[in-house]
Amino acid sequence: MTNIKNKNSGRRAFITRSGLALASFPFLSKSCQNSSKEPKEESSETSFEFAFLTDIHIKPEMNAPKGFQMAINKVNELNPDFVLTGGDLVYDVMRGDHKKSESLFDLYKQLIQGFKMPVYNCIGNHDLFGIYEESPEDENHPDYKYGMWERHFGDSYYSFDHKGWHFVTLNSLDVTHDKKYKGFFNQDQLEWLKEDLKKVNNSTPIVITTHIPMICTYSQLNGEGGSRTVANAFEVFIILEAYNLKLVLQGHIHWKEYGDVNDRFQFLTGGSIAGNGWKGRRHNTKEGFVKIKVESEDFSWEYVDHGWEDERLKAENRAI
Ligand SMILES: [Fe+2]
Repeated sequence: MTNIKNKNSGRRAFITRSGLALASFPFLSKSCQNSSKEPKEESSETSFEFAFLTDIHIKPEMNAPKGFQMAINKVNELNPDFVLTGGDLVYDVMRGDHKKSESLFDLYKQLIQGFKMPVYNCIGNHDLFGIYEESPEDENHPDYKYGMWERHFGDSYYSFDHKGWHFVTLNSLDVTHDKKYKGFFNQDQLEWLKEDLKKVNNSTPIVITTHIPMICTYSQLNGEGGSRTVANAFEVFIILEAYNLKLVLQGHIHWKEYGDVNDRFQFLTGGSIAGNGWKGRRHNTKEGFVKIKVESEDFSWEYVDHGWEDERLKAENRAI
């Protein structure tokens, strides 16, 4: 079904990436373990569904594990072929408390065992280990920045094919000299993307997943700067000009936003699982995720409420 291509070796890294035990998915064992098998268009079937869950911000507090479990249950009910995440898996590891950071990724990995389908993860700003000024760790720590995430999930950018579509997850983050995160696609990744796409037919539909949006109206609507978009997103769009880009899936803003660019591709910022730090809606966007239905060359989507707001309000009323 799925062939992961990562930046280093082209090896399949699915099991690491998903955090799922192979034993849970015996039907995946051949395509995931047989690394001598070249990626191919496996099926003539071109109708399928997948789920996009972003900004999960898992932590032990605020009933967050219960809320995420509700999302997992809802996804399992809908039974898409796989799950893409949009980053900010945990909240958070930027301040560099190693023990706590490890426990957050462990908690996330434990919870995603509950998905009945493969999970492909994306890195977000809150997943960057030890990058903030107040962190006791520095750049020499092996887990610094992408290190901890990559140790848990594999490469932070990679691609895979599914039923005739090509999926690319990008790492949209870097760190500034004054120790803040910024939206940026580094040069190594851009070179990798060019190489990766050489193996993709020009007519193959492509989906890009990025945590920091490549296109976003936040600043126009709010008049604020900051890292709301990837500074050099245009470099990826230029690379993709000769290809059949269909959809850019985005996280970070915790709101719902979509648009169509010149009848060529669409972008979709997919709300969030956590809302405003599990305390309620952010930007008045209800906690939820996106279900995408692919039919041949086209797709449709809907925002799915996994019931967390109702549950949260019930708990708040009980506490009064
Ligand atoms: Fe977030």
